[in-house]
Amino acid sequence: MTVNDEHDLLGLMEIGRICGLTLKHMQEHVRVGITTLELDQIGEAFMNNLGANSAPRVTYDYPGGTCISINDVAAHGIPGSYTLKEGDLINIDVSAEKGGYFGDTAASMGVGKISDEAQRLLDAAQAALQAGIAAAKMGQPVNAIGRAAEQVARNGGYSIIRELPGHGVGHGLHEPPQVPGFYWKQANRKMNEGLVITIEPFLSTGRGKIEEDGDGWTLRTTDRKLVAQFEHTVVITKEEPLLLTKV
Ligand code: CO
Ligand code: CO
Repeated sequence: MTVNDEHDLLGLMEIGRICGLTLKHMQEHVRVGITTLELDQIGEAFMNNLGANSAPRVTYDYPGGTCISINDVAAHGIPGSYTLKEGDLINIDVSAEKGGYFGDTAASMGVGKISDEAQRLLDAAQAALQAGIAAAKMGQPVNAIGRAAEQVARNGGYSIIRELPGHGVGHGLHEPPQVPGFYWKQANRKMNEGLVITIEPFLSTGRGKIEEDGDGWTLRTTDRKLVAQFEHTVVITKEEPLLLTKV
């Protein structure tokens, strides 16, 4: 969507803040021994208390409040009986709706002490998001974002998962345009002022190909290599974008 008025902006800022706070709250509960289901329930209760509903649950009848993806799972990991272990990489993706407005944010982190390889991947994924954000300016083509993010990934020796683009967001969870995390020439729509999109490059230590587990949701790398990803919902402006989900 494009922000049309003050009502839009305030609604988006509120749901963006709720998504960011929920993610932070869940991260504070990440520890060895907790199950992904327990973590999810903590997160969904937190957002519900703030008047928001899980976006994947209301939009896609997703079997969880948030997506929790461990190690070689890139996205859409279903919260369940898996118990977090020392050295795991965990990605928590929080998207939610309130008052007809949607926000979407995610972050990867380590559980306890992680390998140097995993730490470097986390740092690169964070840097790729920052580069994408810096390229997200009014008048620039959407593919400037992926071009910048992919450059960071390549410099670190990582691949970008091509099947998992960012997206428009706001009135719904997934809206046009797609925002590839890599340079995709055809994504040449120029970004207008007020356009609301997510930026969310997925980096992998392997080839970056993914497959679905067979549960209808879980997306795992085919080579079982690690994935890390950070995501913000942003509003395009003439200068640096407004980060709705940063808290
Ligand atoms: Co997300
Ligand atoms: Co998203």
